[in-house]
Amino acid sequence: MIRKRGSLIFCGAFLFVTWNALMVLLLWGRPPTMQLGEGGEVAELPTSDMVRDLLRMTDAFEEELARQKNILLLIQNHQSLWEPPKRKKESVLVPAQPVIPVLVIACNRVTVRRCLDKLLQHRPSAELFPVIVSQDCGHADTAEVIRSYGDKVTHLKQPDLSDIPVRPEHKKFQGYYKISRHYRWALNQVFKSLSHSSVVIVEDDLEVAPDFFEYFGALLPVLKSDPNLWCVSAWNDNGRDGYVDPAKAELLYRTDFFPGLGWMLLREVWEELEPKWPASFWDDWMRQPEQRRGRACIRPEISRTLTFGRQGVSLGQFYDKYLRYIKLNTEYVPFTTLDLSYLKEKTYREDFEREVYNASVVAYEDVRQGRLKGAGPFRLQYSSKNSFKVLAKNLGIMDDLKSGVPRTGYRGVVSFLFRGRRIYLAPPPGWTQYDPSWS
Ligand code: UD1
Ligand code: MN
Repeated sequence: MIRKRGSLIFCGAFLFVTWNALMVLLLWGRPPTMQLGEGGEVAELPTSDMVRDLLRMTDAFEEELARQKNILLLIQNHQSLWEPPKRKKESVLVPAQPVIPVLVIACNRVTVRRCLDKLLQHRPSAELFPVIVSQDCGHADTAEVIRSYGDKVTHLKQPDLSDIPVRPEHKKFQGYYKISRHYRWALNQVFKSLSHSSVVIVEDDLEVAPDFFEYFGALLPVLKSDPNLWCVSAWNDNGRDGYVDPAKAELLYRTDFFPGLGWMLLREVWEELEPKWPASFWDDWMRQPEQRRGRACIRPEISRTLTFGRQGVSLGQFYDKYLRYIKLNTEYVPFTTLDLSYLKEKTYREDFEREVYNASVVAYEDVRQGRLKGAGPFRLQYSSKNSFKVLAKNLGIMDDLKSGVPRTGYRGVVSFLFRGRRIYLAPPPGWTQYDPSWS
């Protein structure tokens, strides 16, 4: 484009200069005008003639200049034919799409390849979603795998590989201390050294769904605009096959339980947490009321991450019992084109409570045996920590509570599908707060 435009201008200038040179030669080379003097002798042109000549010359120049000017104006008027369209004024006002880095927490598992392959496969833009792999543990083979991605990912290495002094009974938890140290370092890299304003954190044993980036891209403005939210997670703790509605891939919830496992965090929240970041068990620490401060996370009906990390710091039992069954979403939902205003706190809370407490109360046996009449939804009530645990266990949903909050719970309510019916496992009406002693 630029070259074509340049050559046109060059041609114009060349024509202009050539024409002028020709004119000068022509006029100068012309034999002087002879005039008969009074005495009949041939006289040299008087000075006034030279002036007239010069005037004629300038007239010619003027004419030529006018012609050249017209040519230049023509060129200018047709500029749009070869110039890229100028950005319109209003497009300057449209905010540029924000950059959301994805931070991959890695250590000593070469299977980080599965995580990275899926991220790179599904990411719509390298500019908008830079992948930063932070590696702890100094494991050479894992470093080699990460290095093999070249400039498709940024490879950071956590520099402090020393053992962390812990009290004797915590020796077996050394891994959790290292994870916590790594998280603090890596998040400081993202927010302080690289100056990002948000991040999506992914562990090296997670595989992401096709609409993972679409989901976080759409939820960033929701997170930013709501002070009662502090994270967006890709994970549904009860997202096993049969417990989620396959026809509702677009459905999202607010939850009081911090799910982790593929989650978005803003710089402001990191600045609040960083100074008191714990030495170990960072995720359960996040679930304590002092950190959560009544804030919720957004989570999907169907998980956008799947965990394949059976061999890990927490040694697999939990994995075999629950995690491996959590279903990964396969249907691409265009979240950025959907109306997500139903997630706003007040709207959401009112709609949710109406939906839950208008649902008819049913007995556990009827749920279990599939004796429910009608399409639902249905409400199953619990009134103590114990009744929650018994019902949850018997129905096959997560029965643990952290700081009194059940996994996926919102205002004490756990929503799931059972035998094709929507069930709300809910405290009695009038719930006001969690009891942190329920654990
Ligand atoms: C569990 C949680 C995990 C949480 C961790 C800390 C699940 C399924 N997993 O870890 O989300 O972060 O507890 O409470 O609930 N890692 C290091 N340095 C180490 C060891 C591990 O950075 O020395 C990294 C791993 O690469 C991985 C993450 O820490 O990204 C979690 O390690 P993993 O071995 O998967 O432990 P989980 O039992 O899954
Ligand atoms: Mn893991």
